[in-house]
Amino acid sequence: MSKFTNSTLLVTGASGKLGRLAVEELLARGATKVIAGTRDPAKLQDLAAKGAEIRKIDFDEPATLAAALAGVERVLIVSTDAVGRRVAQQQAIIDAAKAAGVKHIVYTSAPAARPDADAGLNPEHFWTEVAIAASGLDFTILRNHMYAENTLADAGHVISSGQLFGLIGDRGTSYVTRADTARTAAGALLSAEGKTVEDVTGPAPVTNVERAALFTKLTGKPVNVVALTPADLQKGLEAAGLPDFFAAALVAFQRDAVTGFHGAVTDVVERYSGRKPTTFADFLTANKAALGA
Ligand SMILES: NC(=O)c1ccc[n+]([C@@H]2O[C@H](COP(=O)([O-])OP(=O)(O)OC[C@H]3O[C@@H](n4cnc5c(N)ncnc54)[C@H](OP(=O)(O)O)[C@@H]3O)[C@@H](O)[C@H]2O)c1
Repeated sequence: MSKFTNSTLLVTGASGKLGRLAVEELLARGATKVIAGTRDPAKLQDLAAKGAEIRKIDFDEPATLAAALAGVERVLIVSTDAVGRRVAQQQAIIDAAKAAGVKHIVYTSAPAARPDADAGLNPEHFWTEVAIAASGLDFTILRNHMYAENTLADAGHVISSGQLFGLIGDRGTSYVTRADTARTAAGALLSAEGKTVEDVTGPAPVTNVERAALFTKLTGKPVNVVALTPADLQKGLEAAGLPDFFAAALVAFQRDAVTGFHGAVTDVVERYSGRKPTTFADFLTANKAALGA
């Protein structure tokens, strides 16, 4: 039994993909007082049937958060998808947690969270980390590396065109499955103490060349990497119809893979989830249908 199995544990964003998996993991690991927070409680009736208490939690409604956090000892704050508004949203739940007497915050951050203007989506995570530290509460910042699932979004197009566009100098990305990050977050909520920042990674970095080779192996279709400069990749993504801010965010992720920020490998998944992280090859093999294979 983990140290905090009988503490009152709250997961925000519990109808999101990661949040739901985290609640299910807490229940599976025997947590006795699990609260699933979401903007839309109607979506979580199945979790109520499994023993979770459901509460309405919307970071955009700060006046409601004090009641929503009543009695909570430890909270997993799932970063929201409202890009551009996240710092204010997440400041609201941090402030409410402190006021409600929460002892420990777990937060889903991003690799190499930093304030740099050209760091894509990272500044929002960095400033949230700063706000959590400034609260004085204990915390576990979980810097979730790139979801393996992200690679499925354009896999069909990459494979049918035979071209995987990346950056010159790519050093690889330690893709981690969303399920592994959710189990890790649940484990941290159940056991972590003190103030720590942890990188949540897959078991090995995968370069674009290796990703293309896996696509070829699993589908029989030749896929080659086209290595570009950041400016050319940005232009290509915009020409393909992506809004410029979204293209810039994708290029920033790839630049971080060139820098080496995405190639870190840690034991964090295994330490908190009790299982070895899924390899990228196993993930793609399990998702062959999404590759058009
Ligand atoms: N590491 C990566 O590769 C990667 C990739 C994509 C996203 N992310 C980040 O990881 C987070 C979780 O990923 P996911 O796959 O579970 O995303 P998702 O399914 O799109 O979930 C979005 C989450 O945002 C929450 N949310 C949105 N507005 C909110 C608000 N006003 N108040 C409280 N919560 C709000 C949702 O909660 P409810 O709907 O339950 O209220 C939900 O949990 C994302 O939100 C994003 O910050 C990471």
